[in-house]
Amino acid sequence: MPQIVKFTSRMDAIQAPIIAVIGDLIRQTPGTISLGQGVVHYGPPPAALKAAAGALDQSSTHDYQAASGQPALLAAIEQKLRRDNGIDVARGSRIMVTAGGNMAFVHAILATTGPDDEVILPVPFYFNHEMAIQMAGCRVVPVATDSRYQLDVDAIRAATGPRTRAVVTISPNNPTGAVFPEQALRDVNTLCRDRGLYHISDEAYEYFTYGSAPHVSPGSFPGAAGHTISLYSLSKTYGMAGWRVGYMAYPEQLAAAMAKVQDTVLICPTIISQVTAAAAMEAGPAYCRQHVATLAEVRDVVLAKLRSLEPLCSVPPADGAFYCCLRVNVEADPMRVAERLIREHKVAVIPATAFGLTSGCYFRVAYGALEKATVAEGIGRLVMGLKAILR
Ligand SMILES: Cc1ncc(COP(=O)(O)O)c(C=O)c1O
Repeated sequence: MPQIVKFTSRMDAIQAPIIAVIGDLIRQTPGTISLGQGVVHYGPPPAALKAAAGALDQSSTHDYQAASGQPALLAAIEQKLRRDNGIDVARGSRIMVTAGGNMAFVHAILATTGPDDEVILPVPFYFNHEMAIQMAGCRVVPVATDSRYQLDVDAIRAATGPRTRAVVTISPNNPTGAVFPEQALRDVNTLCRDRGLYHISDEAYEYFTYGSAPHVSPGSFPGAAGHTISLYSLSKTYGMAGWRVGYMAYPEQLAAAMAKVQDTVLICPTIISQVTAAAAMEAGPAYCRQHVATLAEVRDVVLAKLRSLEPLCSVPPADGAFYCCLRVNVEADPMRVAERLIREHKVAVIPATAFGLTSGCYFRVAYGALEKATVAEGIGRLVMGLKAILR
């Protein structure tokens, strides 16, 4: 018999990735429509795929390259940050390309904290943010948002203490779809500046806004460069989730710390992914906006159907990303309801316990991955299922 080595580890206290848990249930129930995973239904721009094919026989594709990213991609990012985000890196920021926005977040936490430090996450949060903070040996300080999932800046201020190192905001938001107004983001950014904290702004859904909701980048505020870390992803914008490309603009004083993390976990971002990313960025946000126009129609259907569940459930405004966070107004166990929705009604949503909504019953509904007709069918099943289960 082989000897099994078994120790406790820092991972024991960390939640299991919920997408995989729900994915298992979906696999056990063929025909389930998944309103679970946060992905888009389209792939990369054709020119990006052509560039990838062209890079296959370049020797540079196969070697280690510059740690922060390839010069062509860095130049494209610098230009994009200035044009779309109002962030001029010449004002004291650096850019680093990572294997996705998640990795940029991990880098940011490792570079800005020490063991037992605290990071403030407005609730609901993105579960990988909580997981990364805990893996780094830090403590998450959850701060409630209001009934529309908007930031409560006074509560954030009250939650800061001597061990606080950063406040995280995500706008447009995963899991709620809320878009935070400029003033709220300015207030958080100013609070961070005044208290000597970092403001980590996750903008993975920067182009996914509907109606008149504007996207605002806190890194563009005057004086923000010294304490703002802005995170971006090509996963959604260019349908490139599998290519693993994200990047961040971060304050210059963190350059040495970021270089240590990058060298240890990635050495350099995958070269062929960077070539593909640079070509995708040449197609520009217009590529994504055509899909956002379609998603806007899907969103209208989703919100109209879900609102038919009132007063049993409510759906606060969701003007961005491709999520909404449904609140169930009767007592129910979210995991149990999610399981029954899959097994009995063949539709999957994510219990929002994973996003820090630990009291009450909430679900994240994602509508980016499917065609309009499939989403409509899925939402129809969800409405019927919730009515039957919560009756
Ligand atoms: C808020 C947020 N940040 C980051 C990510 C991860 O993006 P990437 O694929 O670039 O790691 C996601 C993915 O769902 C997300 O919702």
